[in-house]
Amino acid sequence: MKAIQIATVILAAGKGTRMRSALPKVLHPLAGKPLLTWVLEAAQALEPVKQLIVYGHGGEQVKAAIAADKVTWVEQAPQLGTGDAVRHALPHVGECSHILVLYGDVPQIGSGTLQDLCAGADDDSIRLLTTVLDNPTGYGRIIRDERGHVTAIVEEKDASGEQRAIKEVNTGIMLLPLKHAKNWIEALTPANAQGEYYLTDVIGMAAAQRLAVSAHNCAAAEVAGINDKMQLAAMEREVQQRQANALMQQGVTLADPARIDVRGSLLCGEDVAIDVNLVCEGEVILGDRVSIGANCVLRNCHIGSDTLVEAFTHIDGGHIGENSRVGPYARIRPGTHTAEEAHIGNFVEIKNSQIDRGSKINHLSYVGDSTVGKRVNIGAGTITCNYDGANKHRTIIGDDAFIGSDSQLVAPVEIGAGSTVGAGSTITKDTPAGELTLSRSKQITINGWKRPVKQPKKA
Ligand code: UD1
Ligand code: CA
Repeated sequence: MKAIQIATVILAAGKGTRMRSALPKVLHPLAGKPLLTWVLEAAQALEPVKQLIVYGHGGEQVKAAIAADKVTWVEQAPQLGTGDAVRHALPHVGECSHILVLYGDVPQIGSGTLQDLCAGADDDSIRLLTTVLDNPTGYGRIIRDERGHVTAIVEEKDASGEQRAIKEVNTGIMLLPLKHAKNWIEALTPANAQGEYYLTDVIGMAAAQRLAVSAHNCAAAEVAGINDKMQLAAMEREVQQRQANALMQQGVTLADPARIDVRGSLLCGEDVAIDVNLVCEGEVILGDRVSIGANCVLRNCHIGSDTLVEAFTHIDGGHIGENSRVGPYARIRPGTHTAEEAHIGNFVEIKNSQIDRGSKINHLSYVGDSTVGKRVNIGAGTITCNYDGANKHRTIIGDDAFIGSDSQLVAPVEIGAGSTVGAGSTITKDTPAGELTLSRSKQITINGWKRPVKQPKKA
């Protein structure tokens, strides 16, 4: 059996009116990834010789968002039907033996199903992916003869009452031999209820030529299409449930598998425990025995083993070291790297800073563009003033320094190793190592001072 050469053609020119959105339908995200990207990835697994996307509405926006190399974009305007869409793609399919038609708004199609559909195909037959639906409304029905051979697809709007009762439907996904496809597509006419060029009419043409049409049945969930926000939300829940199941199978403890959203990838070590309402975006890696409290948002970050992230913490980019504590209510921003045994407490914001081993920033602080040494203690209410209104400057804090509460460190500035900054100081010049530096007006007491007394109201 000679191997077939496949060009994949993803139809994505439709407007998606029912989404009621300025965003083209195929760009709406499912688990953090555009619908179209899901389909592209499934297609890629077939190692196609060419990948085509037929686009129409929001073309530039779609191209920019998908930014996939090795994709050939084909514009279809106006949109005269699925057959017309494939007709636009044909001149660009290159050196292939077959074209596999996919839909940009059918994102859950699995690469395994596509591989099965294509395996062992020949040049003189059509492979059609079908499914059986309790409610087939809106779909093209699969018509079979008395011997069970597929002879045609009839669209809902063109179907007789008897045909409408058929529950086996066209998923839209089909494998066509290029040799015949060109002739069939040229022969399509819009003589139907919708006045469109139906790709589905090629089935009847093949049957009339006594070429085989084989229907491969697949699970309905894999070929569900997205037309509106309700379907999108329902599919999102399905994907999230599946991802949660996979995490639990790997040994992750989820307080509630219905209350975790992974919009990207989440890699977990051993004995990770995740409380409710975690949202993960991008690539998140959790080391062994990491514990995540309720209501956290983690984006593109790596959390070292044995670290405890407490409730309502937001970590966006960066690396949290091992055996550390973060939160509750901490905000870590891009460019932050904390070493082992750091404590980042409540209402602490850290941006683009390196915090070395064993340092503590426990309460109400902003640390930005800073390099903090080992075993440093940063008191409550400390602010690094990193921005002068035009430029950002760095703050450097040496090992074992102690910053008293409510201090402002005006960058660029360096706090010497082992030095102490007195509480309430505004530090504008470097502080010498090992010494106490403070900037504070002297405390005075007015002996015998009396508080004002409230005057009695005049009658
Ligand atoms: C199509 C099938 C139907 C099948 C159903 C499965 C035809 C004639 N009908 O019907 O048998 O049961 O899908 O969901 O093929 N598109 C273009 N250009 C166009 C028209 C459509 O790119 O000119 C794209 C759409 O963006 C979409 C796909 O093709 O991704 C299907 O189009 P749609 O109009 O939804 O087809 P249906 O009427 O649902
Ligand atoms: Ca449709």
